[in-house]
Amino acid sequence: MNKNNQSIGIIGTGMALPKCKFKNDDFVKLGLETSDDWITSRTGIKQRYIAKEEATSDLAYEAAENAIKDAGINKEDIDCIIVATTTPDYPSFPSVACLVQNGLGLDKIPAFDVSAACTGFIYAMEIAEKMMRSGEYKNILVIGADTLSKICNWKDRSTVVLFGDGAGAVVLGAVKKGYGIISSKLGAYGSGFDKLIVPKGGSREPLTADNIDDDGRYIQMDGKGVYRFAVKVIVKVVEEALSNIGMKKEDISFMIPHQANVRIIDYAREKLGLSREQVYVNIDSYGNTSAATIPIALNEVCNKNLIQNGDILVTVGFGAGLTFGTNVIKWYSK
Ligand code: ACO
Repeated sequence: MNKNNQSIGIIGTGMALPKCKFKNDDFVKLGLETSDDWITSRTGIKQRYIAKEEATSDLAYEAAENAIKDAGINKEDIDCIIVATTTPDYPSFPSVACLVQNGLGLDKIPAFDVSAACTGFIYAMEIAEKMMRSGEYKNILVIGADTLSKICNWKDRSTVVLFGDGAGAVVLGAVKKGYGIISSKLGAYGSGFDKLIVPKGGSREPLTADNIDDDGRYIQMDGKGVYRFAVKVIVKVVEEALSNIGMKKEDISFMIPHQANVRIIDYAREKLGLSREQVYVNIDSYGNTSAATIPIALNEVCNKNLIQNGDILVTVGFGAGLTFGTNVIKWYSK
């Protein structure tokens, strides 16, 4: 609850996808040595959407508009914008949040990006909720938006097949007392910073005429290392967040995990003792959209009426950094 004794929860959701649908077989058509069978069996992905003419802020803006509409508030009621992304429109600045703010015509309110890779949306939710607890903010727009296809090496079958582009958004606002976000837990293992990295193009090794064609400007991933990290942290962080509020895994009604690999999702589901019906999976349709996977799933879960008032919803994610985190939400919708 915030200073005004008000609980804080999700009052609206929205999402946006690029126009171009890209199926597994389309990689084969491009000459990549892969197959629908390999991608589906190793990851669960069947297709994804690829941003061609769209930039990250275009998708973020569309998702934001949809979330504001869904919340049934005026855009002028938004008093802060936070965007989780690692693929901003411009390499350094301005932030995607400022571009979305400009699109919405909301000059003056604070707007900033959060960089925690695929865990970014969970980090942004925690930041927004804590800001609202101060009593100074009433409705914060939290967006997860990424276009990782633009930093993938399209000749590297071990990474390019995994990612898709998209954006999801929520509006956080006042909900019925006792409901809303009831616990969160964030963490990171910087010691694993090099397991998922874009090594070149930043301040350590800026792009120059000599290295402009170097593969180091694209995502480099130790797939097995990230896999091991994910299964190590996701169950533990959920149990810790629940235990902080006197709950156990048996109290979970529904889980939205980060959509990186269906085998990681299945592992978490089994360890937490959840049924298939209790865990949302849409990786087959979108691939790994990084910071957007959880808010996109939230939008779909709401539209399909898969969660009811009073349900304990757990979101959990992991990503580059290496980062991880969870939000526990006692669901309430008007
Ligand atoms: N098509 C066909 N073959 C492939 C492909 C492909 N797309 N990619 C790799 N292979 C080959 C490899 O070259 C290797 O061949 P080899 O045995 O002849 O050397 C073989 O398939 C096995 O490769 P592995 O890397 O051992 O496959 P693995 O079973 O580990 O699956 C995967 C790889 C899917 C990447 C898995 O390790 C994984 O999901 N890891 C987690 C990654 C993840 O979650 N990343 C996102 C993090 S979120 C974020 O912050 C962005």
